[in-house]
Amino acid sequence: MSNIDLEKFAKYSKAGPRYTSYPTALEFNDDFKYDDYIKFLENSDEKISLYIHLPFCRSACYFCGCNVVFTSKEEKLSRYIEYLKKEIDILASHIDTNREVIQFHFGGGTPTFYKAFELDEIVTYVKSKFTNWSSEAEISCEIDPRFFNEEQMKVFKKHGFNRISFGVQDLDEKVQKEIHRVQPLALTKNAVELARKYGINSINVDFIYGLPYQTLESFKKTLELSTTLNPDRVAVFNYAHVPWLMKTMRKFDETTLPSPDVKLQIFSHTIKFFEDKGYKMVGMDHFAKPQDELFGAIEKGELHRNFQGYTTKGGANLIGIGLTSIGEGSRYYAQNSKNMSEYEEMIDSGKLPFVRGVKLSDDDYIRKSVIMELMANFSIDIKRVEKEHKIDFNLYFKDTLEDLKEFENADIISIKDNKLSVSQTGTLLIRNIAMPFDAYMNKYKNSKKSFSKTV
Ligand SMILES: C[S@@+](CC[C@H](N)C(=O)[O-])C[C@H]1O[C@@H](n2cnc3c(N)ncnc32)[C@H](O)[C@@H]1O
Ligand code: SF4
Repeated sequence: MSNIDLEKFAKYSKAGPRYTSYPTALEFNDDFKYDDYIKFLENSDEKISLYIHLPFCRSACYFCGCNVVFTSKEEKLSRYIEYLKKEIDILASHIDTNREVIQFHFGGGTPTFYKAFELDEIVTYVKSKFTNWSSEAEISCEIDPRFFNEEQMKVFKKHGFNRISFGVQDLDEKVQKEIHRVQPLALTKNAVELARKYGINSINVDFIYGLPYQTLESFKKTLELSTTLNPDRVAVFNYAHVPWLMKTMRKFDETTLPSPDVKLQIFSHTIKFFEDKGYKMVGMDHFAKPQDELFGAIEKGELHRNFQGYTTKGGANLIGIGLTSIGEGSRYYAQNSKNMSEYEEMIDSGKLPFVRGVKLSDDDYIRKSVIMELMANFSIDIKRVEKEHKIDFNLYFKDTLEDLKEFENADIISIKDNKLSVSQTGTLLIRNIAMPFDAYMNKYKNSKKSFSKTV
């Protein structure tokens, strides 16, 4: 990456969505009813992507923004499996289970907090209901290397898992202590080697920048050390600090968090570091090796963004199973209950644990397609948008284009030959560039407690 003018950017640090969905989860509401969701499920013939949330973790990593339930009680874990099975039964009664499954993902929490036989039980149950799996299905699991053993890996192998994502976050001892996640490199290395031994050739490693006590120097060391893991993909997330939502984040002394300037230095170094190592930047926070399919997808402009990050498998109907899970169709988002008692009660009454969502209006649908294209490919093919949505882009987005002038004048974006392109340096501000396309942004203009900071 060439010459990033960091001084130019720190001023853009403001609260903004990460656009894993559009409209964002703040717009999910009660107007989208249970029956609306069921209708979408019953009427769709799209390919299926299944997401199963396994929310349990042993202890809190203080930075964590995920939907987690902390427990060490065995009976809680097995009880949840019984409810998952019931949920899958109800789902199967509303959906054509012959639809092709092209993606399956275990997310968390820590899915590998479950024992091997329990993971086996869950996947076997899903496969007994959904029987039509593509031979090219992407089957993946998020793994905390501190909870991972060979028995579990054997189960993944048996069920055709071909992707694993390991959480690392940072390799500096002081940072690890502060975030309450001490995880020696040797332990992570063993976990990665175990996955390789069983033929997993798409290994992702997660890092976070913006954590307490991180400095440019400390993160440089973390990146150097990370190369010994030789990952196929790396995610380097911008720490989303939302202490008003997450209690454990309040444990941090905010004066120890790196400033926006330092964060930009860290991330621009990260980009250069991975590009020098032959990786390519994918979307706003991922890097992939040339042989990785994400790499090919960017070249072809076929990268998609969803709740799990970036994928080559766009257009599938994402079905969320389990506590807090979110599902996505082209015209809706649907979210399950975040409350375990409510989740169980709904299932006991024979219903899916759906509680809220949003049905996309025509305007939402157009904006979603533009924002997702921007977030995934750092550009917008204006002709494609006009043709697909039968609109005049300049007219439809007149106000947006006005708001974007600031970025155009700063050479952060350019608009010519029917293409809106984000400059290399502008990729660091992609959330800011997407925000003018977001029709709901005005509502949150004066609220400091809606989204995390963009820089
Ligand atoms: C469910 S966790 C990963 C699986 C496993 N529980 C682990 O921690 O290894 C998903 C990832 O989200 C990222 N993450 C969690 N909280 C975050 C936050 N507040 N800001 C940015 N990224 C976050 C972390 O990198 C983490 O690895
Ligand atoms: S980062 Fe992973 S292990 Fe840590 S609390 Fe969050 S989900 Fe659990």
